[in-house]
Amino acid sequence: MRAVVQPDGEAVGTYAAELIERRLRENPRLVLGLPTGQTPLPMYAALIRRQREAGLDFSQVTTFNLDEYVGLPAQDPRSYAFYMEKHFFAHVALPRSQVFLPNGEAADPYEEALRYEQLLQSHGGLDLAIVGIGRNGHIGFNEPAERLMARTHVAVLSEETRTANARFFGSPEAVPPTAITVGMAAVGQAKEVLLLASGSAKAAAVAAACSGEVTTHLPASLLQLHPNATFLLDRQAAAQLRDNDGYE
Ligand code: GLP
Repeated sequence: MRAVVQPDGEAVGTYAAELIERRLRENPRLVLGLPTGQTPLPMYAALIRRQREAGLDFSQVTTFNLDEYVGLPAQDPRSYAFYMEKHFFAHVALPRSQVFLPNGEAADPYEEALRYEQLLQSHGGLDLAIVGIGRNGHIGFNEPAERLMARTHVAVLSEETRTANARFFGSPEAVPPTAITVGMAAVGQAKEVLLLASGSAKAAAVAAACSGEVTTHLPASLLQLHPNATFLLDRQAAAQLRDNDGYE
């Protein structure tokens, strides 16, 4: 695991987009794992710019989003499907038949989790997983726990996560209690993982995930075991890393 530190969240986005562009030019049929949240917004904006300015070609790419709230239809502005459409898919020439998200509206979310897992497997898993990190160290909606799930599943959101995401819903109680998320194997078995973090709220989780114990109580710490994982941080998110952590 290596850490790369950039000046701010914008620069994190530019760096991430450049890395995706390099991988895409090596392999136009890239299978990408995609995150939502505040952090990746500059990355999506930079990718859209690169398509416009440098002809970056998404036509053969396949994308799998990491997670979706249970119960929210794609038309709901708070759903991750809506977020992705608004911030990325509406602006790039990526065939919708190659875009996948868990269906938050599925009649049976457990069946939907199984379907999504099988879909992911049938594409051979992820080439490049871009992930964020929750303040509690979660990845996707894999929350800190005694045990983690390897495969796509229905996750119960922690109080901490519902509080962190309340800004989009008005109150923590209004945040859906469950979500469908890929499991830790989708990330652990990706050929490459890029974790994005910006802002001081992530500094403690980032430091613990980079150099603390590997523990299910901090899912991002499992990335220490990955042979090709990068923590891409802005200065604020990197503030609690120790000097001997060997970051660039
Ligand atoms: C949510 C998502 C995560 C995301 C996290 C951080 O909980 N399920 O996938 O990484 O938020 O979001 P932000 O970038 O807004 O801090």
